[in-house]
Amino acid sequence: MNKTFAIDVVDGLTAKDKHLSSKYFYDDNGSRIFQEIMNMPSYYLTDSEFEILSLQAKQIVEALKFNQPFNIIELGAGDGFKTFKLLEYLVNTHIDFNYVPIDISEEAINILSEKLHERLPELSIKPQVGDYFEILNKKFQGNMPNLLLFLGSNIGNYLKDDAIALLKLFNKVMNSGDKLLIGMDLKKNPITIKNAYDDKDGITKRFNLNLLVRMNRELEADFKIDDFDFYCYYNPETGRVKSYIVSLKKQTVFLKKINKTIAFSQNELIWTELSKKYSLKEIEKLAHISGFQTKQHFLDCKHYFTDSLWQKE
Ligand code: AVI
Repeated sequence: MNKTFAIDVVDGLTAKDKHLSSKYFYDDNGSRIFQEIMNMPSYYLTDSEFEILSLQAKQIVEALKFNQPFNIIELGAGDGFKTFKLLEYLVNTHIDFNYVPIDISEEAINILSEKLHERLPELSIKPQVGDYFEILNKKFQGNMPNLLLFLGSNIGNYLKDDAIALLKLFNKVMNSGDKLLIGMDLKKNPITIKNAYDDKDGITKRFNLNLLVRMNRELEADFKIDDFDFYCYYNPETGRVKSYIVSLKKQTVFLKKINKTIAFSQNELIWTELSKKYSLKEIEKLAHISGFQTKQHFLDCKHYFTDSLWQKE
């Protein structure tokens, strides 16, 4: 049994306002459902960032102003689909660099390494499996400058204080002059955002309810999945998409592995996820409070998404 998961489930489901962390979405099944989400036409984030990295690789590399070999360290590399275009550009222009993808999933790292060996045989790749916090526990070593990649709007899933703490941690391990390329979703027509999360095919609903499936399997819980639903809304004033699981009736659930009974009232919510959308001004403010200087924003043609380049001050 994953002890932290069990502890977080008890904490979250016994709180006055029930909550579960979205980091628990990503078991094997959840990761597969997330791939389905990224393939949905309404989930514009993936295509927007892919466009930026495909069409602006040259401009991004020029803005780095690294005049010597460097490292690209990618946090949460996943299948590396987006990053491929940037790596391809660097390899084709014979720029000297090492690629260090980091992911918690060994399976994802193995698949990524194999795919890259096959498609970009000249690429120097030094993959690492592990948690960001374990890997980011000491300063980047050596004399080579580093580009840290934190793509896919992952920062948007952190509460404000946690996002700042994470960015400060990045800052602490980076050397002066190192850069961070961070993918962030921008505020836009609220309908576009709503459609990305409240999809009519129910894929995002399945993604959320998979948390119940996971608790049934790992904690021997007896959630009846059909007795729960999914709800999300976007608030354009705060830029926050908030997602919830809804209990459709008054019910109790027993989690055998941790010997805990949880009572739900009808329509009670479990908050599962925050997906924050930013303005460029907010991004620059966030960079500043975390010890970075904003160098440039790289936007897609619809101005839906930015990969922003920050430098450690
Ligand atoms: C991983 N993360 C940036 C996604 C997001 O957009 O917040 C997760 C997701 N949740 C629902 N759809 C996608």
